[in-house]
Amino acid sequence: MQLLDGKYISEKLKTEIAQEAAEVLTQTGRKPHLVAVLVGHDGGSETYVASKMRNCEKVGFQSSLVRYEDDVSEEELLEKVAELNADAGIDGIIVQLPLPKHIDPEKVTEKIDHRKDVDGFHPLNLGRMQRNLPSFIPATPYGIMLMLQEYGIQTSGKHCVVVGRSNIVGSPMSILMARNANPGNCTVTICHSRTPDIKKYTLEADILIVAIGKKNFITADMVKNGVIVIDVGMNRETSTQTKSGYKLYGDVDFEKVAPKASWITPVPGGVGLMTIIGLLKNTLAAARKEVYP
Ligand code: GUN
Repeated sequence: MQLLDGKYISEKLKTEIAQEAAEVLTQTGRKPHLVAVLVGHDGGSETYVASKMRNCEKVGFQSSLVRYEDDVSEEELLEKVAELNADAGIDGIIVQLPLPKHIDPEKVTEKIDHRKDVDGFHPLNLGRMQRNLPSFIPATPYGIMLMLQEYGIQTSGKHCVVVGRSNIVGSPMSILMARNANPGNCTVTICHSRTPDIKKYTLEADILIVAIGKKNFITADMVKNGVIVIDVGMNRETSTQTKSGYKLYGDVDFEKVAPKASWITPVPGGVGLMTIIGLLKNTLAAARKEVYP
């Protein structure tokens, strides 16, 4: 078993991104600028957004945080997005999900200028991605692709089973792995909450990507020997053993599955760190106007 080490790869790529950000500053006189919009005080969202801001600063980007309380109206949020769209000093905009129930996330996502949509959630970017055209790719799937690339994992002709069909991970991941590209060219199966006997499919996986949000959902009896396992799970449980007060668990029972795997991502220290890289690379591409010249 070999580890797909998100810490090692993300640090290496951050060094490259910092060099490229410095070039942007020299050429344009300003840093790549990411704005995050955070509504409410969800613990997970607070942590993720703080980490995004911190990492932007680390690689020499400018980052700004716009905060609203839970009771902000949809109208006010949409107006703010329009204002950020029109601001030439801003390269990338993300609105952290989930949003409170009275706000339609689809309306907000579609309001973001596709040229600043560094989350890659806008339908235009998703459509372009599916057609293999230049686009912003959602950060977590992008981070996973970079990880596969960095470790030289061969994907062509393999059977990739994706567990989970979310807009943020499972669905875009399945498109990317099936595309005529490298990484890609897989035969893809998507399993989800309505799939009977998920094990029947996971046992057939050469590459297993799990984004279902259930601690230790994948057990050793569900995988074949030599499988490549990508664990996207970020299941937080309160703990007295850690400084932060919580502990992170993946969707895969790492201890039992790792001995059967050829490659596997740990949690923490795997995909989570790569998500940030996807976001930073999209923001850099937005500042350089690479996707939409
Ligand atoms: N919530 C969970 N993951 C993400 C993400 O990648 N982007 C945004 N905006 N919200 C999220």
